[in-house]
Amino acid sequence: MFNLAVFVSGRGSNLRSLFDKIREDEIKICAVISDKKKCGAVEFAIQNSIPVFFVDNNDEQSYFLLIEELKKLSIDLIVLAGFLKKIPDVLVDEFENKIINIHPALLPSFGGKGMYGMNVHRAVFNSSVKWSGATVHFVNKVYDEGKIIAQAVVDISNVNSPEEIAEKVLEKEHELLPFVVKKIAESKVVIKDNRAIVID
Ligand code: GRF
Repeated sequence: MFNLAVFVSGRGSNLRSLFDKIREDEIKICAVISDKKKCGAVEFAIQNSIPVFFVDNNDEQSYFLLIEELKKLSIDLIVLAGFLKKIPDVLVDEFENKIINIHPALLPSFGGKGMYGMNVHRAVFNSSVKWSGATVHFVNKVYDEGKIIAQAVVDISNVNSPEEIAEKVLEKEHELLPFVVKKIAESKVVIKDNRAIVID
């Protein structure tokens, strides 16, 4: 069994999509971690009997306790799915190249601190770029700068609002994240010549 821990902060559409799309595989969401006691993603986890743990970025001890729990669960991969806090270095070190994040734009553009949710889509809309999309990347100690694993693009040349971009990109996110998780579970994501490569 390939064991996942999914970090969330919001409505949880990526968590739901992942949960639905990995069922037939040997992959299991063993824990949901959040900085928010009440959010759609936590409610979904509780409804589906997935153990929930909470962290507080103002209390490093909460992460030390979490690491112990993740070890007990034999977690193979940490997935950030709308988690809005920065992952502390202690966790990045403990799970080196075993933490991925989904970002709602084509990194390295439109990434970095403060670039989340609608902030991203407003910046994309105002830039007048004709393409946006989603990126799944490894998480390191710098916001949105880990090696890029996979991307999916959407044509936004005719959109009329940032909300339209958000809707198009979210659809791609719901395909891209499960795709990458499955490839990692099959050991089909490798680092070669300083690039992350997905093996077909
Ligand atoms: C998604 O747009 C994701 O790219 C970003 O946060 C949002 C999470 O949405 N990291 P949800 O909570 O999965 O619906």
